[in-house]
Amino acid sequence: MLKRGYKPKPWSGGAQNCRVSAFLMFVALILLIMVFCLVFRNDSDGVNHSLAYELPKQKWNSFDALVQLHPTREFRNGTDLIWQLPESPKGVLFLAHGCNGRAINFWDKSPECLDCVGLPEERLLVLHALANDFAVITISSAQRCWTFGKEVLVVKDILEWWTGRRKLGKLPLMALGASSGGYFVSVLATTVKFSSTVLMIAEGMFEQMDISRDYPPTLFVHMPKDLYRQQKIDEYVEVLKDKGIDVSVVECMEFPLTPNTLADRIPGLDRALSRKLFELFREKGFVDQNGYMKNDGRKIKWKKALKEKKTLVLDQRLVPHIQEELNLAFAYHEMTSVHSDQIFKWFESHMSYQTSPALKPLVH
Ligand SMILES: *[C@@H]1O[C@H](CO)[C@@H](O)[C@H](O)[C@H]1NC(C)=O
Repeated sequence: MLKRGYKPKPWSGGAQNCRVSAFLMFVALILLIMVFCLVFRNDSDGVNHSLAYELPKQKWNSFDALVQLHPTREFRNGTDLIWQLPESPKGVLFLAHGCNGRAINFWDKSPECLDCVGLPEERLLVLHALANDFAVITISSAQRCWTFGKEVLVVKDILEWWTGRRKLGKLPLMALGASSGGYFVSVLATTVKFSSTVLMIAEGMFEQMDISRDYPPTLFVHMPKDLYRQQKIDEYVEVLKDKGIDVSVVECMEFPLTPNTLADRIPGLDRALSRKLFELFREKGFVDQNGYMKNDGRKIKWKKALKEKKTLVLDQRLVPHIQEELNLAFAYHEMTSVHSDQIFKWFESHMSYQTSPALKPLVH
């Protein structure tokens, strides 16, 4: 026994044991891996999809029984504004588009607005607002993107003039801006008294401004896949909280396309075409076997693939609409109405911020 360390021979029996225990360990390992795979099945591609997506609920015509779009278009201070009032408005919502956007993107083409575009997410936000009894005003930026000098005063003037003329001046005023519109709204909120704001896919200009304690409650609606903005928003949430400002965050995650997604979201795109487009995207490897976009809609060459596919004819006016839904499904940077429920809950829970009736008797 004392020699066992020196000669292999006494170990011949032990080697047998060793083989058995190695086998048992191997079996145990396999079992462990199997359990692991079962438990973390959702994580197999690095993203926990059980948390990661919320399929869009609304279809393009979900609001048909509740609201019809009949906007009014006007020109003022060198830009155009398009607006609509519900029967008895309880608040006013200003919507600010992103770069390359226009007021016409929020409204369907109609006799009142012949060159309106009606992008799927923009129009659903408007419909959601009107269905919730908000008056909606959209204004076009003077240039491709919003600017932060004189344009802030122009929009302030337009909002004051319009709410005054429409007798909406006493109602709480809210704003939602996406991307460039989000930066713009974050600045506008220092001069226009909003009851609350929503900054969508934008961290805001909080490094460039002095934020006072009466800065409005701010909801960030963003896409965490955009890591830079995600980090900036985390930072600014703390900055705003430290000032005592009510702030919250809604995260928008990727969701899988189905053969019906495009038909469900885009007016004028039928199910047959939706299915064919989906099949083309599958065939070209733009979406994976679960329907997830492999890249941003702006990056994949889907328009080129479409041109080459002679059997598929698409009204070119629908290209921006499809593009928007592809970007949204990938969830890196796009206007979104998917979380409208949370957005309007936010607005509605901060309506008394501006004109609290309880305070009025004190002001006589
Ligand atoms: C907007 O237009 C009105 C009316 O023409 C004018 O009084 C006002 O000064 C303009 N505002 C800005 C910021 O240019």
